[in-house]
Amino acid sequence: MGFFLNLIRSQFFTTIPYPSSDFSGQTVIITGSNTGLGLEAARHIVRLGAAKVILAVRCVSKGEAAAQDILQSTNAKANVIDVWKLDLSSYESVKAFGARLQTLDRLDAIIQNAGIFTTKFALAEENESQITVNVVSAAQVGLYALPKLRETSQTFNVRTRLEFVGSDLYQIAKFKEAESSGYLFDALNSKDLANMDDRYAVSKLLLLFTVREIATRSPITKDSNVVIIKSTPGACKSDLFRDDFSWLQKIMMSCMNAIFARTTEVGGRILVNCARPDIEAEAHGRFLQDCRVFTNGKNIDSTKGQQLQKRWNSELFSKLENIAPGITKVLA
Ligand SMILES: NC(=O)c1ccc[n+]([C@@H]2O[C@H](COP(=O)([O-])OP(=O)(O)OC[C@H]3O[C@@H](n4cnc5c(N)ncnc54)[C@H](OP(=O)(O)O)[C@@H]3O)[C@@H](O)[C@H]2O)c1
Repeated sequence: MGFFLNLIRSQFFTTIPYPSSDFSGQTVIITGSNTGLGLEAARHIVRLGAAKVILAVRCVSKGEAAAQDILQSTNAKANVIDVWKLDLSSYESVKAFGARLQTLDRLDAIIQNAGIFTTKFALAEENESQITVNVVSAAQVGLYALPKLRETSQTFNVRTRLEFVGSDLYQIAKFKEAESSGYLFDALNSKDLANMDDRYAVSKLLLLFTVREIATRSPITKDSNVVIIKSTPGACKSDLFRDDFSWLQKIMMSCMNAIFARTTEVGGRILVNCARPDIEAEAHGRFLQDCRVFTNGKNIDSTKGQQLQKRWNSELFSKLENIAPGITKVLA
């Protein structure tokens, strides 16, 4: 089915189940949970009885306001929610977060929801900002979380989950920057070569390449019952389309929102259902749409896609070692 037909099927004709899994006793981290889909996902997980829900946010005061909002709507005890600082545009912040999560007694799931969508070229660390926030730092957080997820799976005899929130737009990424024969990061980080209208979709394609590599090198075994997936919430109303779009783009997005976007609450359901405690092992390394394993599409399955995935991962994983020496040792 083509991308647009599938979008129509998903947005108009699919009912997203209200989350009902039992999270009692579990510890769950949700990044970017002060607003949007992350906030609604956190609200569901608190309602579903988690023992600890950690809101990982770049602005702690916004996280604390979100925590109060969740507590009021769920009547949960105040000590269920913690607010931790995490700024994905700073490698130092990601490292500090990675060190802090090793102090947890258990970690059952992490929903890596934080992300940005912009058509303006800007650098964060040494990369274009969407590449740093949506991909490089997300990969780092995932690698920091893996040992704790494995340890929890063994100690408590549960399946733990590492969810990366992507977008179905990766299927229509053109990725013209990859036509240059040199280092992919150089092309992505060059303002002159950047196709910023395509960049968000490219970041989500690169994220799926990354998730597939991490999952392949962290298979489900008796010592590592960790399911690693990439989900999409589909088109949802949220704060994602912020300040730097032109008025024309904003009008187009408002129309799109009015016609077919899901509510933030329904988008949040998808994130929670994809991190459910009983998620099937077959989801490992896969892209999930409407909470189910979905086909990858040609940007992944074609020979060109496979070659690009290899090229990207070879660059990314050496970059990760440069940022944080030893970080990839958790992978086979
Ligand atoms: N909405 C959609 O239609 C849609 C469709 C497909 C995929 N998605 C994906 O769903 C996820 C959530 O998006 P949303 O729609 O809920 O957007 P949103 O309302 O803009 O929320 C994004 C969250 O990410 C946080 N964030 C941004 N930059 C960050 C950074 N450098 N470090 C840490 N946190 C950061 C934001 O924090 P601040 O509030 O402090 O900025 C906010 O909490 C994203 O990954 C997005 O790509 C959304």
